Amino acid sequence: MSNGLRTRENVAGMGANHPTLAAYRAAVEQMKNLPQTDPRNWERQNDIHRNGCPHGNWYFLPWHRAYVLEFEEICRDLSGNPDFALPYWNWTQNNNIPGPFRQGTLLDETRVRNSVPTVFVEQSIIDRILGQTDFELFASTRPRVPFEQNNTDPIWQRRTGAKAELERTPHDFVHGQIGGDMGVVATSPLDPIFWLHHCNIDRLWAEWNARGNRNTSDTLWTDFRVRPFDRVVGDLQDLTQLGYTYDTLAQPQLPEPSPLPPLLDRARDRFDLMETRVASLGQEVSFPVETPRSALPLAAEAVSREDVAAEGGPKVLAFVRGVEPPENPQVAVNVFLNCPYLSAETPVSDPHYVGSFTFFGAHEHQDGMEGKHDDMKMEFAFDLTETVYRLQEQESDLESRLTLQLLPVPYEGRDVPPEEIRIGGVEIVYI
Ligand code: C2O
Repeated sequence: MSNGLRTRENVAGMGANHPTLAAYRAAVEQMKNLPQTDPRNWERQNDIHRNGCPHGNWYFLPWHRAYVLEFEEICRDLSGNPDFALPYWNWTQNNNIPGPFRQGTLLDETRVRNSVPTVFVEQSIIDRILGQTDFELFASTRPRVPFEQNNTDPIWQRRTGAKAELERTPHDFVHGQIGGDMGVVATSPLDPIFWLHHCNIDRLWAEWNARGNRNTSDTLWTDFRVRPFDRVVGDLQDLTQLGYTYDTLAQPQLPEPSPLPPLLDRARDRFDLMETRVASLGQEVSFPVETPRSALPLAAEAVSREDVAAEGGPKVLAFVRGVEPPENPQVAVNVFLNCPYLSAETPVSDPHYVGSFTFFGAHEHQDGMEGKHDDMKMEFAFDLTETVYRLQEQESDLESRLTLQLLPVPYEGRDVPPEEIRIGGVEIVYI
């Protein structure tokens, strides 16, 4: 404990008999043995996630924060260790599932692999994510389909927003790479590593805030009640108030909320190419979006790089909309901008590369989802600003046309049959 706060620590420093892991193991064992009638039962905990976890919108972070907190408290009670704090798995530092999770109670035998390729969890990606100043481009966006604030519809928190980089890259990718129970929403909390994965995602949110980045003040977010935890989102922001911190934080900080309106309400111009196209493995599909020269906000002489990086600075965004996942979701889609020589071999270190997405959460029909096929289509948000900045120095037609190129590739080391991925369209938004 420090400042009376429980400190969540890096699992990497813990041997199998570390008191934190001993307590976790004891708690998991008991949860697995509790009768189904007990809400603390291991599978009942999984049911909470299967029946109502939001992904692909701005409730993703606070909902999972509440979920992990409640789970941690159960662990505290069952282990009889009043100081227990859940450890986190920092896959950026150590891409192997920690040793104590590869045996006994903490093992999940359905895992496809025990390590995550570094490509989508490496430090440069985390730096870029933590350097994002806009809340929705960090935390995933406001749901696009309007809904009642206190809607009792079971799909209320699943409405589609767009997955931003933290969710669509390290979060989704780690799920998909480990695979087995972890690979799908409906079963992922059955793998004891799930909770340490989410603890790390939660830590990155806390880190982002500690660097002075602001959550939204939109009441659609702050006043939202996350179920079934009976908490409102606004009360899930301040770690000090919640009683915990991370060993990587000198001090948890919660900056004043941002007064900026939601992202799309700040759009100065929008251009789209909504026309379904089909991508297949190793083959790019491209969306050339005409963008009149006058609208480009980044005329080099007008705006400095610092202005662009600041919260509320001018941005060029791309939304990939209406994505229908492939049958076999073990595919990553790499996204490039205006790359004349793109091939399946073009590396993600290429200057035209803007990011990736995968398909965690695809094809899962949870309770209440029948007949709501449109809600299962996925959307992804990309901040193109840096790339546009970089490329506009070199390329003459960049200002009149932004061509987003999507290139699906199978997960490293997985045998994926030929797959087709339908993409509904691309929208370019100038903020
Ligand atoms: Cu709701 Cu990482 O999953």
